[in-house]
Amino acid sequence: MHTILAIETSCDETAVAILRGNELLASEVASQREHEAYGGVVPEVASRNHLLHAPRLLDDAVKKAGIALKQVDAFAATSGPGLASSLMIGASIAKGLALGFSKPYLAINHLEGHLLSPFFVASASSRCATHGQDARATIEPNVSLIVSGGHTLLVEVRGVADYRVMGRTVDDAAGEAFDKVAKMLGLGYPGGPEVERRALSGNATRFEFPRSMLDSGDHNFSFSGLKTAVRYQLAKLGTISDETRGDLCASFQRAVVEVLVKKTLRAARQSKTKLVTVSGGVSCNRALRDQMSEACNRARVRLLTAVPDLCTDNAAMIAFAASLRFQAGFESELTQEIDPNLALA
Ligand code: KG4
Ligand code: ZN
Repeated sequence: MHTILAIETSCDETAVAILRGNELLASEVASQREHEAYGGVVPEVASRNHLLHAPRLLDDAVKKAGIALKQVDAFAATSGPGLASSLMIGASIAKGLALGFSKPYLAINHLEGHLLSPFFVASASSRCATHGQDARATIEPNVSLIVSGGHTLLVEVRGVADYRVMGRTVDDAAGEAFDKVAKMLGLGYPGGPEVERRALSGNATRFEFPRSMLDSGDHNFSFSGLKTAVRYQLAKLGTISDETRGDLCASFQRAVVEVLVKKTLRAARQSKTKLVTVSGGVSCNRALRDQMSEACNRARVRLLTAVPDLCTDNAAMIAFAASLRFQAGFESELTQEIDPNLALA
């Protein structure tokens, strides 16, 4: 049974997790609220905060896990994609620990962390049967939708470390569109949860927003035109009431969800998979989860979503991916650099 310590610092969340076998011993996350004032992540502020938070989170995680660092079998960190100055902090700490304790280092792709995260829940729920063993979740072949603030991708997953990107956004990520629309409407950051809350009482059919690239014939997405359409609508309306704000949120969310659901199901059909997985921050969205679930039921395809705690950035998903890779015999060189544009496959 292996113990993995993982650090995630790709954007504005500092996170440390310790996974022993199938058991998540600790998962600490510090979210940076400082970026709220800017309506987006400021890289210099993010990396300074990672430096401030990481040592404390590391201490807390080790205490919570009730282990000593020398008991860790491998140290892992997110090595990309993400902000260079942020990635560097987590990767340097993990490499330093690996070097200091003469243990292997694993560089993990942030996107791999997200796309495997729905299986982590599956393995945790069967923990009783497998207690005392390594995280041995079977990664069934699936079509995976990763929807976050930085990424929107459809990936054909054949197994651990066996991925084929089917499509991606050609401009904004879905979560980025939520954040930008929230900013336009004077709502807080991150915008996704706030837009979702307002959408609950809004009329989703009041405004007809574009479903960009719905019929593009490929598996790519585009959300920049939708964001601009909301901006034009807002300019036309002038001062708006709270009711109209809710209608804008609901109509916008409906357009995003419709495109994500339809294109995911089309990709699943094309790859002939019987399993769809959804991960990343936007997969916290209830409307997306519900509509994806209905569409999968109709298509007789199973749906696996990450539990809410594992949707937004965290280190548990990085530890889980590292654990599966470690068991498969992967190990990274300490000379491996971080890569802000790291590709998935
Ligand atoms: O996965 P994540 O924490 O970071 C990245 O890897 O980008 O995702 C953060 C994104 C933000 O854009 C946030 O607005 C969005 O996920 N998000 C949501 C919801 N909760 C978080 N979007 C829509 N509805 C939500 N409930
Ligand atoms: Zn992420």
